[in-house]
Amino acid sequence: MNTAVIRRISGPVLRGATRDPFRIHEAVQVGGKGLLGEVIRMQDDEITVQLFEDGTGLRPGDPVVGQGMPLSVPLGPGLLGHIFDGLLRPLSGEGRDFLLPGRFDPPPGRFLFTPLVEPGRILKGGDPFATVRPADGASGEQLCLIPPDQAGEVVSIVAQGEWTDDETVCQLKDGQGRLIDIAMSHPWPVRRPRPVTQRLPVGPPLLTGQRILDTLFPVARGGKAMVPGGFGTGKTVLLETIAKWCDAEVIIYLGCGERGNEMAGVLDEFPHLEDPRTGRPLMERMVVIANTSNMPVAAREASVYTGITVAEYFRDQGLKVALMADSTSRWAEALREVSGRLGELPGEAGYPAYLSTRLAEFYERAARVITLSGKNGSLTVMGAVSPPSSDFTEPVTIQTKRYVRNFWALDRKRAQARFYPAIDPVLSYSEDADTLASWWSQEGAPDWAEHRRRFLTLLEEQTRLERMARILGKDSLPQAQRLTLLCAELVNDGFLRQSAFSVKDRHASPRKQTRMMGLLIRFMDRAAAAVAAGVGVERIIALSITRRLQRMGEEIGDEELERFDALDGLLETDFGSLVTASGEERRP
Ligand SMILES: Nc1ncnc2c1ncn2[C@@H]1O[C@H](COP(=O)(O)OP(=O)(O)O)[C@@H](O)[C@H]1O
Ligand SMILES: [Mg+2]
Repeated sequence: MNTAVIRRISGPVLRGATRDPFRIHEAVQVGGKGLLGEVIRMQDDEITVQLFEDGTGLRPGDPVVGQGMPLSVPLGPGLLGHIFDGLLRPLSGEGRDFLLPGRFDPPPGRFLFTPLVEPGRILKGGDPFATVRPADGASGEQLCLIPPDQAGEVVSIVAQGEWTDDETVCQLKDGQGRLIDIAMSHPWPVRRPRPVTQRLPVGPPLLTGQRILDTLFPVARGGKAMVPGGFGTGKTVLLETIAKWCDAEVIIYLGCGERGNEMAGVLDEFPHLEDPRTGRPLMERMVVIANTSNMPVAAREASVYTGITVAEYFRDQGLKVALMADSTSRWAEALREVSGRLGELPGEAGYPAYLSTRLAEFYERAARVITLSGKNGSLTVMGAVSPPSSDFTEPVTIQTKRYVRNFWALDRKRAQARFYPAIDPVLSYSEDADTLASWWSQEGAPDWAEHRRRFLTLLEEQTRLERMARILGKDSLPQAQRLTLLCAELVNDGFLRQSAFSVKDRHASPRKQTRMMGLLIRFMDRAAAAVAAGVGVERIIALSITRRLQRMGEEIGDEELERFDALDGLLETDFGSLVTASGEERRP
C-alpha cells in the first residue's frame, strides 16, 4: 500500500511527501476520516492530490493512503432509480439524505438473479451472464455483464434466487487456470472509457418531442449536443423536458455545480414523476447524479466522468441511453480552480490549457456502438453551457463547439419575451440533420428535409428583413416581403413555440410535427400564390386559418391528430374565398 504524509494544503489541493510508487489518478484516502481524493501530479518525493471532499481540519502530518487503483465506481443493478453524489455515493434511499465524509460503501441491494449461462460456457468481457430485477419488484429487468477486462470459462453460477449485488454469484476460470469471482456489480475507473467492439455512425434520431429540436435541429442517437445560454434562458428546463420526454431507455441526469435550487426541479420533482410512456415512476429508468455548488469543487470535476461511466454501463447492456449535464461550465470552472491552486500557467480566461482536451475526452464518449457482446447500444450526450453574460465567444462555449454536432443556442431576447424553448433558430445548427432525413422518409414524411430547409431559409430571411424594416419602416416593405415576415411569425408562434407546461403540447410526436409542418408549408404556398395574384397581406392576416395555425400546437394533442384534417379543410376554403373575393375586387 502506498502512503504519504501531508506537507501542505491549499483548498482542494494538497501535497504529500512520499517514497512510494504512487500512480497518476490513483485514488487515495486522506486523514483520519479517510477523505477521498486522487493523485493528479507526481514529482520527486512529492505527490499532489485533489480532494473530493471538504478538507477542513486536515493538517500537515496527516496520512494519505493509496487505494492501489484509479478512482472507480461500482456499476451494477442498484443504480437505476437512485440519486448519487459525484462519486456515486447514494444520496437517496436507506434513510440516507446527507453525506458522511470518507469512503462509503452503500448497503448492498437485494436482487432477483436469473442465470443465463451454465458451467462450461466460455464468456468474454461484456457478455451478459444473468438478468436481474429488484427483489421488491420495482423497475424492469437489467443484464449482468462480465466486467470488460475479464474473461474465462464458467466454473459455477448460482441458481435463480435473491442475492445481493456484491456477493460472488459466478466463478470463471481464466486461461491460466485462475479463478475469478464475479458479482452482479463491478468497479470501473471513471476516467477510462468502457471498451466497445465497434463505433457506428450516429442515427436514427433521439426523439425529444420538442419540435424545434426534432424538426429543425435534431440530434441522432449517439450524438452530442450543447445548450449554451445565459442565466435564466431555459437550459435547465430544456434538459429536464428532454429527460422526461425523449425516447431513450435510460436517462442519466447529471447536475454539476449548479446551485442547489437549480437542481431542486430534478431532486424534488423527478421522484414523483410518472413515466409518460409506461405510467411507472420515471425514476425507475433514471440515475441522478447531483453535485451542487455547495459540494467540494474537485468532486464536480469527477462527477462528469462518473456520470458518463454510468451511462456507458447501460449502453453496454444494449440500451439507448441519454445523458444530460447541467452545467459543463461549472465543471470547467472546477478545472480552473484546481489548476490555479497547482500554479499552472493559465490559458484564456484563466482556464487551463487542457480544457479543450478534457472537453474532447468527455464528448468523445457519446457514441452509437456495437457492444462487446454484439448488441447495439447508444449514448447521446447533451450538455448545458453557461457563458457569463451570454457571451458565446468565451472559452468553454468555443471549445465545446469544436466537439459537438448540435448547437442549441438559447437566446436571451426570446427568453425575455417568454418565447420557449428560447432556442435561436438562426444561430443554432444540427450536423445530424442530413443523416436523419431518411428516417423521416421511412416514417412517412418524404418531404421532411425539404420542408425543414424551407423553414430555416424563411427564419434567416426574417432576421434580414426585420433589420431592414427597422431602418426603413415595415410599411416600406413590398407585399412579398411582408408575407415572408408573416409566415416567419407563424412558424415561430405556431410551430417553434412549445410550452413545457402545456398538457397537450409539452410533447409532440413525429407525426404531429409533420402534420403541423405540412400545414404551414401549404399555407406559405397558398399565401405566396395569393399575394402574387394581387391579394394584400393584411387580408391573409385576417383569415381565420392564420389564427388557427398560430394555436394549433396547443389545441391538438398527440392523440387526436385527425383534428388536423379540419385545418386542412379550413386552409383550402379560406384561400379559396380570398382568390374569388380578390377576383371580384379587381373587376371595375
Ligand atoms: N420551455 C419552457 N416553458 C415554459 N417556461 C420556461 C421554459 N424554459 C424556461 N422557462 C422559464 O424560465 C425560467 C428559467 O429557466 P431555467 O431553465 O431555470 O434557466 P437556466 O437554467 O438557463 O438558468 C424557468 O423557471 C421557467 O419559468
Ligand atoms: Mg439552470
